[in-house]
Amino acid sequence: MESNAKAEPTKVSPLRLNTVRIFSLASALLLSMIVTVMCIGFLMSYEVATEVSSIEDIPYWKDKLPPEQQLWYDEAIEELQLALKRDLHKQLAENAIIFVTSGIDTETMAAARALLANQTKPQPALSWERFPHLGRLKNSCSNTELCDPFTVASAIFNGVRSNFRVGGLDSGVLFRDCAAAANISHHVKSLVEQAQEIRLRTGFVTTRRVTGANMAALYARTPNTAWECDAALPLAASAAGCIDVAQQLIKSATGRNVNVIMGGGRQTLVSNVPNTVWDPVDETTCNSQDKRNIISDWQLLNVKLKRDFAVLLNSDDLRELNGTKVDYVMGIFANNNLQLKNEVDARRRRVPQLSAMIMKSLNVLKRKNNRYLLVVESGVESTASVDKQMSTLLQLNDVVQQTLEKTSGSKTLVLVLFTNGKYVRNAVESSAETDVTPNVIDFGNEENTPIEQRLSNVATEAVVYAKGPRSYLLHGVHEETYMSYVLSYALQMGHFKPNSNTEQRHR
Ligand SMILES: *[C@@H]1O[C@H](CO)[C@@H](O)[C@H](O)[C@H]1NC(C)=O
Ligand SMILES: *[C@@H]1O[C@H](CO)[C@@H](O)[C@H](O)[C@H]1NC(C)=O
Ligand SMILES: *[C@@H]1O[C@H](CO)[C@@H](O)[C@H](O)[C@H]1NC(C)=O
Repeated sequence: MESNAKAEPTKVSPLRLNTVRIFSLASALLLSMIVTVMCIGFLMSYEVATEVSSIEDIPYWKDKLPPEQQLWYDEAIEELQLALKRDLHKQLAENAIIFVTSGIDTETMAAARALLANQTKPQPALSWERFPHLGRLKNSCSNTELCDPFTVASAIFNGVRSNFRVGGLDSGVLFRDCAAAANISHHVKSLVEQAQEIRLRTGFVTTRRVTGANMAALYARTPNTAWECDAALPLAASAAGCIDVAQQLIKSATGRNVNVIMGGGRQTLVSNVPNTVWDPVDETTCNSQDKRNIISDWQLLNVKLKRDFAVLLNSDDLRELNGTKVDYVMGIFANNNLQLKNEVDARRRRVPQLSAMIMKSLNVLKRKNNRYLLVVESGVESTASVDKQMSTLLQLNDVVQQTLEKTSGSKTLVLVLFTNGKYVRNAVESSAETDVTPNVIDFGNEENTPIEQRLSNVATEAVVYAKGPRSYLLHGVHEETYMSYVLSYALQMGHFKPNSNTEQRHR
């Protein structure tokens, strides 16, 4: 402005020039004053606005918002900070703990969260909801009417899909084909078997039967998942070389080498167990009749192998167990599932709490020079009431939290898997010999039976919450078989086991 004023042409009368000069000088002065004031004002307001908080390196504006908006803003900032600070933990996992739950849908989980949630502050309420990673697993029976929980668990834990109602075997084995099942080229290697191969300690703990679908998938192979014990195995199948699931706990190399086996299911392991009010036999599932006692067989086997072991029959036995002194434990605490209605009830039944079972298991599994793989199952029948589902979830919430406190977050990969939110139990677990095949639901054909009704019966897809080393590999929608490979990769076993050649190359 001033330079403009100086460059004014000078060919005017002195008086006029003077007036013009004074006028333009005054206006220039005024203008520069205005600009200065504006600049100061701007700087001042900038000063106020740049009162940024850069807690943990995230610059953000401390904007003043109405409290109704502030709540969400602060919440988001907090979560953003967590997300940005997230450590991908790319190192190998030393150990892995998998929690698996059946019979509970994600809707029920939302309801349980609402029960726990702090009404004044939005927060993830369930312990696994604070895990940094989440994957969804497609289900091989996502679009069929029936879903076999054993077959699903086998795909998830063993990395290969079997035919419907077949477990631990690839699709080369058809339903009830004992001859094909005996062909080892069709056998798939379970996570437990892979872990044992590289000398990890292994264990599984369940509030259900140790021979039930999810646990059986860890150690058993069968061309008919209903063959849980002798009472369900037809003579012809037995003659053709098939072995029921319960027997495989001591007859299969994998079953024999599991360090910790804890849960219910005595009725499939021991014949003619007493049926009492406190410990009922479930007549709708396999109830052994062939005079077996697999618990004492297991004991004899361990004597023969000169192992340090313990057999536990009730919660008192568990309490007295010093886990650091034994390498092998079998604890069978109920004929069928463990009934854990409340503590008084549990004490009367002498049934241990899941948390106590896990803590003792960790004492057996954790050794100075050993890594471990632990699978924990808690779940309900597909027909369980919402109440029962809810209390199971809340219990799991505490159990996961307690387990996290007892394990090293940088060494242990922890997965919390919800599978088979709904599944059609009776069609697949009871009547062993009825040939049931799942029909694919034809979504395009509107003349079909009401699709809504059929959809209410299909199994829900699994979700898996992940935390710890390499947990970031679960990050989207995956095949259900993928989870098995993530575990093998994180623990460097199975297909990812370093062979002697590569080890030499590394040296
Ligand atoms: C809920 O959150 C508020 C604010 O953080 C806290 O003061 C209050 O104690 C919490 N209540 C419960 C039950 O956790
Ligand atoms: C076992 O299965 C493999 C692969 O399908 C096949 O090539 C082989 O002939 C089978 N062995 C027997 C003894 O049936
Ligand atoms: C368990 O046994 C170990 C080794 O004998 C011993 O050091 C430890 O004190 C025992 N723990 C308990 C709780 O008795």
